[in-house]
Amino acid sequence: MVQAWYMDDSDEDQRREHRLKPDQPVSVEELQALGVFYHKLDADNYETDPELAKIRKDNNYTFMDIITIHKDTLPNYEQKLKIFYEEHLHLDDEIRCILEGSGYFDVRDKQDRWIRIAMEKGDLITLPAGIYHRFTLDENNYVKAMRLFVGDPVWTPFNRPADDLEARTKYLQLLEVELKA
Ligand code: LAC
Ligand code: NI
Repeated sequence: MVQAWYMDDSDEDQRREHRLKPDQPVSVEELQALGVFYHKLDADNYETDPELAKIRKDNNYTFMDIITIHKDTLPNYEQKLKIFYEEHLHLDDEIRCILEGSGYFDVRDKQDRWIRIAMEKGDLITLPAGIYHRFTLDENNYVKAMRLFVGDPVWTPFNRPADDLEARTKYLQLLEVELKA
């Protein structure tokens, strides 16, 4: 099962775990309450995996590509990593599945605290449009990830503050509904 935890606020290397002491884990259910969904997939057979095919069909994820983040393969590696780690949101859901390697997605909870999600091979995650988040490699410095999207992909990040965007206000409304439920 995917591991997630609340982060400390030390400014040491972003690629380290940054767990609180004592550790404060976050469950898949707590992630779901933020609109973040997790699935475990068969990363070795993603081309033929019926579960992935079903997720793509059910959610209309027509677009798919693969991004490899490693200093030798990604053009403008350092600059891209910096952009990924800037707190931002998107107007659409961000869907990623790790095929090789690993990395951290950080998301804000309802109290604006950082939750770190440790993504490894076979982990698929959906971050809802409007959630503030960021990404970093971990100390292994390598990830190969599948990106899914509904229609033509738009990867534009809106750095925080982006509170006036409709995607943001809609997301906050969604959270309120969740809170009342
Ligand atoms: C993205 C991740 C890094 O926007 O959040 O691609
Ligand atoms: Ni993003």
